[in-house]
Amino acid sequence: RQIFLNGSYFPEHQASVPVMDRGLLFGDAIYEVTAMLDGRMIDNDLHLARLQRSLGEINIPMPMPIEDIIEMQIELVRRNAMTDGTIYMQVSRGAEERNFLPSEGLKPGFVAFTQPKKLDRNPAQQVGAKMALLPDPRWSRRDIKTVMLLGQVNAKQSAKLDGFDDVWMFEDGCVTEGASSTAFVVTGDGEIVTRPNSTAILPGCTRQAVIAIARDHGMPVHERAIALEEIPHVAEAFLTSASSLVQPVIQIGASVIGSGQPGPVTRQLQKLYLEAAR
Ligand code: PDD
Repeated sequence: RQIFLNGSYFPEHQASVPVMDRGLLFGDAIYEVTAMLDGRMIDNDLHLARLQRSLGEINIPMPMPIEDIIEMQIELVRRNAMTDGTIYMQVSRGAEERNFLPSEGLKPGFVAFTQPKKLDRNPAQQVGAKMALLPDPRWSRRDIKTVMLLGQVNAKQSAKLDGFDDVWMFEDGCVTEGASSTAFVVTGDGEIVTRPNSTAILPGCTRQAVIAIARDHGMPVHERAIALEEIPHVAEAFLTSASSLVQPVIQIGASVIGSGQPGPVTRQLQKLYLEAAR
């Protein structure tokens, strides 16, 4: 596999980052994941805008202009002959002697790699996923896409140990989001519900695209928090992310959702999202 590292491309075994990189020592880095289906990048403009925003929120400069990043993504995909999968990018504040307070004018470290996978053929796309429901252990700026992912890693591990596929997290009696996805439910009235963007969740790019598609097709979307008490009564549930696209959810904690099969609204959105991507 070819890796992009600070302006050049290397075979993976030759790509190395300094031990003093602040991403490694402090989690002082931002990342993005863009999906690729049939050779096309999906919602990439939204991912690049969020990369720029996340970096701005923690005062790391953009490692290069957006147009150059897009060129790099295209070149990286070409070098790795990838048609389906994800493109991962990470920008760290840079490397210097370990010190909590960073120096001014540090040069950001920039890495990117591809992970080939048929995202739309994942079995969970068909049968749906069983989600554990666990307290959200994260810090208060979840709108910033940082590599500080220990809370999510831990939550996913416990979910797996308890026999679930993945996990949704909650706080103050309401769902925040998935460990690496945005949470949606569909009520008995056919209303699509997802939490409004705030510092409590990551503003999902797939979320934004799916909401726009739903509204374009006259499907009602209500942005409000999902209370834990309503989960046993929802008709359908699904999650969205760059790597999962629109994925049905058939169980949340102890509650089996609907008939325990992906619901019709979820199926419709899955289909519309894939059509828009192609
Ligand atoms: N995760 N919420 C969290 C906490 C996430 O980590 C992600 C994405 C999302 C969905 O965002 P988007 O639709 O823009 O991918 C929501 C990526 C895929 C990851 O960490 O691999």
